[in-house]
Amino acid sequence: MVIGVPREIKNNENRVALTPAGVAELRKAGHTVYIQVNAGEGSGFSDEEYIGAGAIMLPTIEEIYGIAEMIIKVKEPIAQEYSLIKENQLLFTYFHFASSEPLTHAMIERGAVCLAYETVEKNDRSLPLLVPMSEVAGRMAIQEGAKYLEKPTKGRGILLGGVPGVKPAKVLVLGGGIVGAQAARMAAGLGAHVTLMDVSLPRLRYLADVMPENVDTMMSNEYNIREEVKHADLIVGAVLIPGAKAPHLVTRDMLKLMRPGTVLVDVAVDQGGCIETCRPTTHEDPTYIIDDVVHYCVANMPGAVPYTSTVALTNATLPYVMQLANKGWQQACRDNAELKLGLNVVDGKVVYKGVADAWNLPLVAVEDVLQQEVLN
Ligand SMILES: NC(=O)c1ccc[n+]([C@@H]2O[C@H](COP(=O)([O-])OP(=O)(O)OC[C@H]3O[C@@H](n4cnc5c(N)ncnc54)[C@H](O)[C@@H]3O)[C@@H](O)[C@H]2O)c1
Repeated sequence: MVIGVPREIKNNENRVALTPAGVAELRKAGHTVYIQVNAGEGSGFSDEEYIGAGAIMLPTIEEIYGIAEMIIKVKEPIAQEYSLIKENQLLFTYFHFASSEPLTHAMIERGAVCLAYETVEKNDRSLPLLVPMSEVAGRMAIQEGAKYLEKPTKGRGILLGGVPGVKPAKVLVLGGGIVGAQAARMAAGLGAHVTLMDVSLPRLRYLADVMPENVDTMMSNEYNIREEVKHADLIVGAVLIPGAKAPHLVTRDMLKLMRPGTVLVDVAVDQGGCIETCRPTTHEDPTYIIDDVVHYCVANMPGAVPYTSTVALTNATLPYVMQLANKGWQQACRDNAELKLGLNVVDGKVVYKGVADAWNLPLVAVEDVLQQEVLN
């Protein structure tokens, strides 16, 4: 198959959809890979490394879209890319269609085959192409939190791990899923005293088994949160209720209970945030202060560490890319139910319920579309 990787042009996006290692794997399987010049620059991969791995470099995005049967990207195409997309061209990337009506209509009009990273789903309902970014954000939450706890950034002036003779900081993590578990482990590794809350007792049991000694688990409820915020130095918001806005677990009045210089990192900001006073911020201006409490609410945390994020993402996407390239999307989706769930828009038809519901569009059964492909 002929595969194309354009340079990401969305503002502040430094990731790239394929590493030189990925190129080498695809070449070994007999595929041709075109990479746009400088596509890997933001993640630390040079054109020479791609060429060394067997890629052919093309200078413009027009040439990449023009030649490829499958385009692999990181972010959804933006308006200036719409007209470059060809009928039946396979696009494998994050789309988040339910948050953009113009994008949905554009992909329907272009007649592309849109396989969305975010809806590829395993049997156990986990989302393998979202997990790597949650892992990055969870770990980063502690790194950022530690920085903003320093006095010059208006924090309490406390070192997470303390030193011999001085107590470590207290970290409260709300939500013990992917983000929360990674955050708790990272904070514990730095020597902080961690309290990890979740509403799921089976999950708490599991976490209590696998977490280090300096992590306590606790049931998440308003009473417990109200007690814990009084003593916490760093609070990490990491809850998710699939398909819904995050609940406000830390309410505005609770800020008054906190000590001045407490730091809040609301990773769940992309779902509305689980801290009531959270509003989305950017890497350029990541924090603001309310009632002497520092709020960090960057909606795309992994964007600040593009090397790690690119490698983590491509580790997860490459096995699927390989199946799509080896078999074509039709057979790959027939053989692999996880990939089939990634199909959102095919040949002008919406085949994913969440997207049809979001924009009131007719839903076509994905099996019908795959059957039609056999007949064609
Ligand atoms: N800001 C960023 O850059 C960034 C990056 C990655 C992920 N995220 C976001 O982080 C959030 C967490 O993602 P995840 O992958 O860890 O999700 P996850 O599904 O793995 O974990 C969510 C956890 O929240 C728990 N939960 C639900 N309600 C709760 C409550 N009331 N109190 C305590 N816990 C509760 C669930 O039981 C679950 O264990 C999501 O909103 C995700 O979109 C943000």
